[in-house]
Amino acid sequence: MSLISLAADARILWRMACGQPRRGDHAARLQAFYAPQAGRYDAFRERLLHGRADLLDRLEIAEGMRVVELGCGTGSSLDRMGPRSGCCASIQLVDLCPALLAVARKRAAAHRNVEVIEADAARWQPAVAVDRVFLSYALTMIPDWETTIANAVAMLKPGGRLGVVDFHLPSTGSALANRLWRRWFAHDGVQLSDAHLPALLRLLPEAWTDERRASLPYLPGLQAPYYLYVGQRGAVAQDVSITR
Ligand SMILES: C[S@@+](CC[C@H](N)C(=O)[O-])C[C@H]1O[C@@H](n2cnc3c(N)ncnc32)[C@H](O)[C@@H]1O
Repeated sequence: MSLISLAADARILWRMACGQPRRGDHAARLQAFYAPQAGRYDAFRERLLHGRADLLDRLEIAEGMRVVELGCGTGSSLDRMGPRSGCCASIQLVDLCPALLAVARKRAAAHRNVEVIEADAARWQPAVAVDRVFLSYALTMIPDWETTIANAVAMLKPGGRLGVVDFHLPSTGSALANRLWRRWFAHDGVQLSDAHLPALLRLLPEAWTDERRASLPYLPGLQAPYYLYVGQRGAVAQDVSITR
């Protein structure tokens, strides 16, 4: 790694060490946290956010589909989709953070079928139902996560799929390890939970899941727990209200 890359990483690590600012509403805190990182976001998160390409494979995005990503960040999923992105009828990228959306808009400029939308994932709805919705390391940053997953299912066509990849607290993890992970991630506004995966499975039980561990940049030996989930909406319309 070059000295320039190391210096850029050091700036990101410094921001993460400072944590997410506590002042302002949710959108303002996201902007204050991510704006100084936006230029180097993709290179650093490539080594931190694992399983994102696997999730897209499992979603089986095909020609003519309408696709939504909630909490899209810089829109780097477009790169991971590769030629599949060009075959979609539409791809709508939704996020609340203007600094990351500015990077997403630059990416989207190369695609005729991509729309970038500044909105809250818990409330935004597309004009027409879609085939695929996914969240990649976004659910843990959305305070209203239960409303968000219900909102995501509500935008799916019957037979459509919801995909999520994110860090979590595994049911198999020790209480001490889970407490440490929770505190460590919470510093940056990432709220790890043992409730996300069970809630997804209650909402769309016809699902594929995988629980894994991921290495962390500059922290050899540490492996953070994360999961992948792909659920399919039933062929008939269903009630998407969720129960705890
Ligand atoms: C860790 S980043 C992941 C970004 C991207 N999905 C990726 O895989 O690189 C989490 C993203 O969720 C977004 N986010 C947090 N709360 C949100 C909300 N209520 N509505 C929309 N986006 C939100 C943040 O702005 C940020 O871009």
